[in-house]
Amino acid sequence: MGIREDLEKIGQDLQTELGKVADTQALEQLKVHLLGKKGSLTALLRGMGSVAPEDRPKMGQIINERRAEMQEALESKMRELSLAEKERRLKKEALDITEPRDIPEIGAVHPTQAVLREVLDCFIGLGFDVVEGPEVELDHYNFELLNLPKNHPARDAQDTFYVDDNIVMRTHTSPVQARVMLSRKPPIRIVCPGRVFRADEIDATHSPVFHQIEGLVIDENVTMGDLKGTLDAFAKKLYGADITTRFRPSFFPFTEPSAEVDLTCFNCRGKGCRMCKGTGYIEVLGCGMVNPRVLEMCGIDPEKYSGFAFGIGLERITLLRYGITDMRLLYEGDLRFLRQFR
Ligand code: DAH
Repeated sequence: MGIREDLEKIGQDLQTELGKVADTQALEQLKVHLLGKKGSLTALLRGMGSVAPEDRPKMGQIINERRAEMQEALESKMRELSLAEKERRLKKEALDITEPRDIPEIGAVHPTQAVLREVLDCFIGLGFDVVEGPEVELDHYNFELLNLPKNHPARDAQDTFYVDDNIVMRTHTSPVQARVMLSRKPPIRIVCPGRVFRADEIDATHSPVFHQIEGLVIDENVTMGDLKGTLDAFAKKLYGADITTRFRPSFFPFTEPSAEVDLTCFNCRGKGCRMCKGTGYIEVLGCGMVNPRVLEMCGIDPEKYSGFAFGIGLERITLLRYGITDMRLLYEGDLRFLRQFR
């Protein structure tokens, strides 16, 4: 057989094979069989030596033309197959976004946490820093520096969990006041949220573990007017512009004078209802001007500086905020309750 016939045969075989290949991998193989080092067309070119010298240019030209045609046929098949493969892959990877699925349950922010965030946002907006302190606290900070010396009768009001003679589970967040005064220089403007502990029986309004938010401001010329203005802004921000504050004289060893603060009942908006026992007001926090003795014990000159402090019961304002009547609901993690806050 001459080279021409071989060439013819190779071309026909290629056509048959091209009709059979199903994927790009098989096509690559076919290409190697034809044009690779040991390929049939390559072998043919090597056989040129046996062609008469005068025929070689013509023959070379023919082979090259045929080779170009075959290459083009291979490439066009390659394009066709890769496109088909790509389409197959896309089809396989496609998501049916209309297919119904089990939607995962969306959680909710716990009401206590939601109210805490609002309170902190409000005070951050007024220029306060948020600080934290230890839950296991030295008697020194929890009581002594707050003007509650050993044997002081007011200690009885706080049913303390003692760890030992000098260490307690903090009964309020007020010890953070002492820690901040000892570690920072005025002006001081902080709020401190956290857990506090008291040996109380659990009922609708008591829990041995609950939360307070402490506030402290120390600067030159701070007055009771600043305290009232600050708490009034807080009340309005949290519950609405029509809410007012009412200050009643009270006593705390660490403030002088001291007050308890009532807010317009957010249930009846002051008209009087079951929640406020008909008074139109609800007590939410204790506060006062920081006792000069406390300033002194905490290294702040009471001649130069004055300040105010307050302690908010977080559960209390949360219950009132949502009209919840039993504090235990806030601790039990009952999903039927919590789902309502989604
Ligand atoms: N520590 C008080 C309590 O637990 C609350 C309190 C009252 C905090 C007056 C204060 C304050 O900072 O000035 O009952």
